[in-house]
Amino acid sequence: MTTAERPASPTQAHPETHARPDAILSAQARPAPSSAGLPERVGTVWMDGMFRSGSEAATSILTHSLHYGTAVFEGLRVYEGTCFASRPHYERLQASARALGYVVPADVDTLVAATDELIAANGIREGYVRAICWLGSDSLGLMAGDLTVHVAIAMWEWPQVHALDGEDAGIRLHLSQARRPDAHTLPPQAKAAGGYLIGTMAYHAAKRHGCDDAILLDQEGLLAESSSANLFLVRDGVLLTPIADRFLNGLTRQTVLHLAADLGVELYERRLGVEALASADEIFLAGTAVEILPVTAVDGTQLSVGPVTRRLRAAYAQCVRAGPAAVPPIGPPITPSMASPAQAS
Ligand SMILES: Cc1ncc(COP(=O)(O)O)c(C=O)c1O
Repeated sequence: MTTAERPASPTQAHPETHARPDAILSAQARPAPSSAGLPERVGTVWMDGMFRSGSEAATSILTHSLHYGTAVFEGLRVYEGTCFASRPHYERLQASARALGYVVPADVDTLVAATDELIAANGIREGYVRAICWLGSDSLGLMAGDLTVHVAIAMWEWPQVHALDGEDAGIRLHLSQARRPDAHTLPPQAKAAGGYLIGTMAYHAAKRHGCDDAILLDQEGLLAESSSANLFLVRDGVLLTPIADRFLNGLTRQTVLHLAADLGVELYERRLGVEALASADEIFLAGTAVEILPVTAVDGTQLSVGPVTRRLRAAYAQCVRAGPAAVPPIGPPITPSMASPAQAS
């Protein structure tokens, strides 16, 4: 064994580095088994224009984006062997990279085609796709201007995030005090890896409170979204959702707004204070990974899965399986004109 391979002795290392990762995270915050051992489960991946084995595709520990959170990424879903809305997802990936000052080294057509080829190569039917673009290991200075940009796509079978027990089941949310940063600090429409620290910490805190996810606030302390999905409330049959100019205007959120309009559901995008949670009859989350996810409790307050949630959930399930022609006009640019004139909750 060489010196470099030898494990550090207890006196050399900080005590926490001896704790197994699963001892550092609480039992409840441990990743679900579905996300364990991913490199072995992803089969073939696409990285920098080449198809490779997932267990071999790797990056250096000196990768800039690993140290400073400068990666941008997308999560997409595959239904019955077809990727839903891959084009708007990859347009957003390009926009996220531009917002951070770099360019994805593959155009949208290339990324869409690579995704389709990977779905076929891996035989994915009901799965999740993770595309990521990151800055390489040319240097570790904060200056990111001249670094090599990499891009990769991986996917695996993942039919659902939360295995809910029946149509009346939902998840429990914890109202967090965490706030999304303002647009001067982090561009809200960029899916930048660094921004996910906020959601991850809020999520872990929610787990410690016995909940499944967190509701985060915007910079004014108003309702924003969950750790990784958008928030919808229903009051007296009317659909309400916070205006998505201070956090990610999710593609699922936009799809839900189109579906709600098609179904004749009255809907408003508004600034919503935390008190709106107490007067809501129904609450659900919307995001690519979680799809339409009913909420059956916010901390101690119980809720039922109501009729608007059920209708939208069914419409969404139909839309994502109906083929490319069914994808509503979603994606950037996002303009404030989407907001209703009535801004107050
Ligand atoms: C912070 C955050 N908000 C909202 C969403 C929902 O976005 P989408 O519906 O485009 O997946 C996501 C998921 O990507 C997210 O990470």
